[in-house]
Amino acid sequence: MPLVRDVPTTPFSDQKPGTSGLRKRTTVFRTPHYLENFVQALLDVAALDAKATLIIGGDGRFLNREATQVIIRMAAANGITRVMVGQGGLLSTPAASHLIRLSGAGGIILSASHNPGGPDGDFGIKYNAANGGPAPESFTNEVAKRAAELTSYRIADMADVPLDTIGTHTFDDITVVVVDPVTEYATLMESLFDFAAIRALFAGGFRMRFDAMHAITGPYATEILERRLGAPAGTVINGTPLPDFGGGHPDPNLTYAHDLVEELFGTSAPDFGAASDGDGDRNMVLGTRFFVTPSDSLAILAANATLAPGYATGIAGVARSMPTSAAVDRVAKEMNLPCFETPTGWKFFGNLLDAGRITLCGEESFGTGSSHVREKDGLWAVLFWLNIIAVRGESVEQIVTGHWTKFGRNYYTRYDYEEVPSDAAASVMQQLRDEQVSQPGQTIAGRKIAAADDFSYLDPIDGSTSAHQGLRILFEDGSRIIYRLSGTGTAGATLRVYIESYVAGPDGLDRDPQDALKDLVQAALDVAQIPQRTGRTAPTVIT
Ligand code: G1P
Ligand code: ZN
Repeated sequence: MPLVRDVPTTPFSDQKPGTSGLRKRTTVFRTPHYLENFVQALLDVAALDAKATLIIGGDGRFLNREATQVIIRMAAANGITRVMVGQGGLLSTPAASHLIRLSGAGGIILSASHNPGGPDGDFGIKYNAANGGPAPESFTNEVAKRAAELTSYRIADMADVPLDTIGTHTFDDITVVVVDPVTEYATLMESLFDFAAIRALFAGGFRMRFDAMHAITGPYATEILERRLGAPAGTVINGTPLPDFGGGHPDPNLTYAHDLVEELFGTSAPDFGAASDGDGDRNMVLGTRFFVTPSDSLAILAANATLAPGYATGIAGVARSMPTSAAVDRVAKEMNLPCFETPTGWKFFGNLLDAGRITLCGEESFGTGSSHVREKDGLWAVLFWLNIIAVRGESVEQIVTGHWTKFGRNYYTRYDYEEVPSDAAASVMQQLRDEQVSQPGQTIAGRKIAAADDFSYLDPIDGSTSAHQGLRILFEDGSRIIYRLSGTGTAGATLRVYIESYVAGPDGLDRDPQDALKDLVQAALDVAQIPQRTGRTAPTVIT
């Protein structure tokens, strides 16, 4: 029996309500007892059965390895007898979700997703339940409450686990199974997609670039794309996970994945480009000099789902987060499928997936996924695209423009104002609520307002309600303006404005989105008085 110590701690209670885990500056996590306090609260609330296996892994950012050792020692001290951890303490978020579903009763994921890492970056920790998905809000609120009361935590005095050595390591009270982080995930992907068709595509000279952004998907993409699918060496760039992501911002969008964007929009651009984020759950997809919006991507995957063996018998339904464009709604209507609109955040898809009501789901924020795991999945989306390209024998641009011709086009853009002083951001939202600046019947930018509200969601499975999920101005022609505050930023507030407008075609399908949406964007900024209230004349990021 290793010595179990009860270490006194001051209570910590600064988890943001409603968030699925704890995400903070790395410096905060390095405050003495801070990590331990949260882990103890988490283990207390999870109350895992002694025989249960706890899965542990993270995206490789600074502190990942040390935190993994601490969590294993605390698991041992708290009566957990078996943990399974990715080699080096690594697991992408979707791979962790899969491993939990295969062999765990729950899992701890170490990541701050797409936020920068390193000693001055961000760190995070979250708990996923036995279904592989983020723990529900009731759980995380319990954890926050518990963390605020704790006066001590339990930790075992045991040797460091050899995290780099695959195999079963037995300690006095706990067995630690170190697994290859990629193997099970790669097998799952092989079961869903037509690897033979994709292999033939690469063998025929199809050129792809995958930017792993020095984050977790490097080893996954290298194994799957280059080894199993025969893409040429060098297809994956920035493929070695680094503790600080090479100093970059591991978020696959047009701003942060600049190397990839430059190449795909350059003169000798490859046929296909893709990137994933820090922990591997987001994806960006590009064709030759062509950007696919995540909202369109979801719609296109839904429309072509049966081309992939894993979805050949059809899909049960689809869901999108409220700010995601309604492109997928049109596909669902045409295919006679149920279509759900949920608040922002992956956790809202979990119940629908568990109940078998949906098969595919996605968000405008570069997140797409399916019932194969309970997280969004970056590489999965990329493989799905490769499968569709291989079977259809068309370019990305042909697939997307063909889709618009059939379904019409939802022009879409998102403006982000990052690190705005919290009170300024709150005043923007308050003003929109109080003064009821947008009234049905009123006209903005030549469009008549049909309704304006603060989005509220009634979960059809558990009956719970989530209110205040974003202010919407809905126009009679299907256009929308949405305002919401981010729940994931770690400094100040991030204000997001989403603008969408639908064109049925056949004319006007090939405009530049910023140009097509110009009037509506201006109206959105005016109505909310963004420059006046935030002092910002331009957003930090436009997508
Ligand atoms: C952002 C995205 C949201 C996504 C979340 C986690 O949240 O907008 O769609 O689920 O990151 O990746 P936000 O910062 O907007 O609250
Ligand atoms: Zn992520």
